[in-house]
Amino acid sequence: MQVQAASSQHGSTQNGKVPVHVAIIMDGNGRWAQKRGLPRLEGHRVGVDCIQKVVETLSDKGVKYITLYAFSTENWSRPQEEVTGILEIFLQALRVQTRAFHDNNVRIVHIGKVDRLGLELQEELAYAQRLTRDNTGITLNVAFDYGGRDEILEAVRKIIHDRVPEEDVSEKLFRRYLFTSDSPDPDLIIRTGGELRISNFLLWQSAYSEYYHTPTFWPDLDSEELERILETFSNRQRRFGRVNPED
Ligand code: FPP
Repeated sequence: MQVQAASSQHGSTQNGKVPVHVAIIMDGNGRWAQKRGLPRLEGHRVGVDCIQKVVETLSDKGVKYITLYAFSTENWSRPQEEVTGILEIFLQALRVQTRAFHDNNVRIVHIGKVDRLGLELQEELAYAQRLTRDNTGITLNVAFDYGGRDEILEAVRKIIHDRVPEEDVSEKLFRRYLFTSDSPDPDLIIRTGGELRISNFLLWQSAYSEYYHTPTFWPDLDSEELERILETFSNRQRRFGRVNPED
């Protein structure tokens, strides 16, 4: 695997506009498996194996932050067998992939709640973050037991706890209380699997993100399609609520 420091190839779409932060709703694992007559968990296993390649492709293109939506605060209500299976696959993935990410200068950051994860998983997450903390290549935010509403409520609780004076509560301050405090807002959010929902993902941070959805199931998302998505992004006009002078 050749995951490079993002800055080395920054700006490698045709017109040079590369998103700094790409966030992905990795949907369609279950349907990918069912289509092949396999158990849903097999889709999650294959889906996890695709992550390194996606990180490599985006890093090579000059992306500096990736956020992957792996498990939402709502996913706990899936059948017990699937939840247990996903937790196990995540634990194994961390054990197997952390070293490779570290060797490629990737910084791993967990975003979401930790207290509902088992002790082993908590320890493995802490280890992955500690090991890769000073890496200077791409940042990989792994959203696991993450919910946008939960994140906002948690920020409010911390602000109250810190007794922040009312007049100091600004957007700038608020974002420092979010799980993503050390990442810029996502420029591009990709959803695989054909659904057209935001599903409680980065609700605060996505205010001006460009959105792209594809019917491709997550395990089938390849580098060619990712590159096409980045080209599409590079041709979007982003106005952030303003009017373009030439309009
Ligand atoms: C959505 O497919 C995908 C998930 C719920 C992700 C599962 C997450 C893992 C296996 C762990 C992730 C690990 C790392 C290292 C980030 P779906 O089940 O919603 O598919 P469907 O819409 O076809 O049912």
